[in-house]
Amino acid sequence: MKILVTGGAGFIASHLVDRLIAEGHRVIVIDNLSAGRKENVNSKASFYKIDICDSKALEEIFKSERPDIVDHHAAHIDLRKSVEMPVYDATINILGSLNLCEFSKKYHIKKFIYASTGGAVYGEPKKLPVNETHPVEPLSHYGVSKHTVEHYVSIFYKLYGVNFTVLRYPNVYGPRQSPHGEAGVVAIFSELILQNKRPTIFGDGSKTRDYVYVEDIVTANLKVIDNLGNNEIYNLGWGKEISDLEVFQAVRRALESDVEPIFSQKRPGEIDHMSLDSSKATKELKWKPKTTFEEGVKLATKYYKELSKR
Ligand SMILES: NC(=O)c1ccc[n+]([C@@H]2O[C@H](COP(=O)([O-])OP(=O)(O)OC[C@H]3O[C@@H](n4cnc5c(N)ncnc54)[C@H](O)[C@@H]3O)[C@@H](O)[C@H]2O)c1
Repeated sequence: MKILVTGGAGFIASHLVDRLIAEGHRVIVIDNLSAGRKENVNSKASFYKIDICDSKALEEIFKSERPDIVDHHAAHIDLRKSVEMPVYDATINILGSLNLCEFSKKYHIKKFIYASTGGAVYGEPKKLPVNETHPVEPLSHYGVSKHTVEHYVSIFYKLYGVNFTVLRYPNVYGPRQSPHGEAGVVAIFSELILQNKRPTIFGDGSKTRDYVYVEDIVTANLKVIDNLGNNEIYNLGWGKEISDLEVFQAVRRALESDVEPIFSQKRPGEIDHMSLDSSKATKELKWKPKTTFEEGVKLATKYYKELSKR
């Protein structure tokens, strides 16, 4: 199949592109390289450096490439920046996504896969782990913008029959995640510990998230590309909480360091606890994460170690 992957120079989608190509699909990557890196893009993919907000350039690609499926990962992912710059966040995450929906309809794509977030749409959970029926009450502009697109993809199905699957991701980690953003705590801790610097933990270290290794997230995308889970929303996660302190300790252990963290003020706008119940994905997509946190951290830190030697 011919698959258009947006954000394919970034962390998650570059792994997706690698796997799609390994499985024999033809892949087109769109990325404006605002956060992604050209080196991440598989050389067998057709790469277009364009912005998803540039509707003219985008349409040219749909027109000439005629993809079967769109797997949409391009986004502004910095939650804290979204609070400072809501218009910027909404422009990329909502309007850019809407452009993709429009051309997916116009050029009759078979399915639109949307990478959403379980960490930012539900707000502070009423009960853990959170399943898809939990009320959606985002606490950040990023949560609002990511969730808004879920409604659009559903409307494009209801009005025009464009099939979709929404995958609500947990905290994804692994090689190629940028340590320069706000989101990738495994990447951030790894980079600092490798420089023998003390990472900062915001709060007392008890804040929790559900961590899934990137290859397991890629597997979920592959399942829905294989025509499972049409017109549904799925949480992806272990259903288990891992605290900031546990993440720090796992990264420190993997890097055989004895660096101590610095504890600082908790940051506003961030929820305290999150874990995602993915029983629906297990039942309908036959998906379950496989890579344990300990194994995943070893793989990620190995990558950052090698990177630091270059
Ligand atoms: N990493 C996580 O833990 C996580 C959790 C939940 C959801 N997600 C979602 O998964 C997707 C991928 O996240 P990631 O962690 O790989 O982030 P990333 O920043 O590594 O990848 C995003 C990519 O999108 C590109 N991009 C940004 N704005 C663009 C634009 N206007 N036009 C074209 N390309 C643009 C960037 O250059 C980057 O390569 C995002 O949609 C994000 O919201 C990620």
